[in-house]
Amino acid sequence: MKSLLFQLILTSFVLLNSDNNVNAGVTSVFIRKEYPSKDIPLDDEAFAVPTGHNVPQQVHMTQGDYDGKAVIISWVTADEPEASKVQYGTSKGKYEFTAEGKMTNYTFYKYKSGYIHHVLVDDLEYDTKYYYKIGTGDSAREFWFQTPPKIGPDVPYKFGIIGDLGQTYNSLSTLQHYMESGAETVLFVGDLSYADRYQYNDVGIRWDSWGRFVEKSTAYQPWIWSAGNHEIEYFPYMDEVVPFRSYLQRYPTPHLACKSSSPMWYAIRRASAHIIVLSSYSPFVKYTPQWEWLREELKRVDREKTPWLIVLMHIPIYNSNDVHFMEGESMRAVFEEWFVHHKVDIVFAGHVHAYERSYRISNIRYNVSSGDRYPVPDKSAPVYVTVGDGGNQEGLAGRFSDPQPEYSAFREASYGHSTLEIRNRTHAFYHWNRNDDGKKVPTDSFVLHNQYWSSSSRRRKLKKQHLRSALGRMIASY
Ligand SMILES: [Fe+2]
Repeated sequence: MKSLLFQLILTSFVLLNSDNNVNAGVTSVFIRKEYPSKDIPLDDEAFAVPTGHNVPQQVHMTQGDYDGKAVIISWVTADEPEASKVQYGTSKGKYEFTAEGKMTNYTFYKYKSGYIHHVLVDDLEYDTKYYYKIGTGDSAREFWFQTPPKIGPDVPYKFGIIGDLGQTYNSLSTLQHYMESGAETVLFVGDLSYADRYQYNDVGIRWDSWGRFVEKSTAYQPWIWSAGNHEIEYFPYMDEVVPFRSYLQRYPTPHLACKSSSPMWYAIRRASAHIIVLSSYSPFVKYTPQWEWLREELKRVDREKTPWLIVLMHIPIYNSNDVHFMEGESMRAVFEEWFVHHKVDIVFAGHVHAYERSYRISNIRYNVSSGDRYPVPDKSAPVYVTVGDGGNQEGLAGRFSDPQPEYSAFREASYGHSTLEIRNRTHAFYHWNRNDDGKKVPTDSFVLHNQYWSSSSRRRKLKKQHLRSALGRMIASY
């Protein structure tokens, strides 16, 4: 009887922690303490300008190619133009190589940006620590980064996921907790600085302060960017009648490496993951460039090499918060069928300032004339995660629809970040961390089973491969 009870408890635990089940979801009863969601004042040390004439500031990097053997390093010098040059090498203080790039600047209203430098550093070795130096003379600064291992089906890797960060004390807490997580690359789901909440010259000034704010992470590891609504600056009262994107001047992406016509949507492969970045605020209906590109990119995905297929976007497709409810419906109507057909593992979005995770569900049988009108459990569908809870000045989105829809597995209005720790081709550990708990408490976590390799025929194939290589090792040891 006791063992029967134990089995029952074990079965319920496995069911509750699997990503495929559909039970009534959980609306967390946790009440977030009310901290002010005000931006940190400009004279705070979080935004400190490094001392020195023309010293590099706002240093950040992103992946620079398709497979992770390049980075784009960017920074700003405020005082005068100078060469966009990165010196780098594999031992500290010994910079055998030099890469040169481009410098740009822009004017927005009466704000004049500093000199923005972008340098592609390519032909790097995989899985190697590089040290680099930017700036000249006494103003030079030194940093380092680690390249990812060569792409392969069982390469472990840990990603962090952050969205809607802004520059408040809550944002600072998210950033600090993320940096304690041990994750190696950030998947950023849009809405970076919230500089567009300011007016006149303060818009540019708050882009600069945000660049300095995140530098403690972005100078040392790539952040994979996607853009949100706060990356569009449209201010007719300031005579800025053409929508402007400071974001594009400051945060380049490797879109040409994946044949994308725009830096707003692109893909990279890193370790065992194929990551697709979509633009919620660019055209995506049938025959638009983003639609055409995604159709081709999905064909290029090779799950034998990169088993994990991850999609980033800003507006969530499944969201049961009152805020931004149904805003993702147009993209769902266009792309959801592809996500299911190609067995996307997980879709990360931001925009809603709360946390939510879905079960594996789809609504692809719905059409305006007939068909099911509600999402249904679907083993081929991705898990949808909304992690727009970085901590910006707009505060939390505290009101969820009641009752909780069946597709919603867990939701809570707190600040935080997520991590996705890929172990091998079949399993990854997902974890959402609310700011209040520090780094050690997994508030929401589950084991993500790979969509491609969890099919029974592929599992059998994999078991045979493991058996064969184990036998091979045994024979070789005799
Ligand atoms: Fe947003």
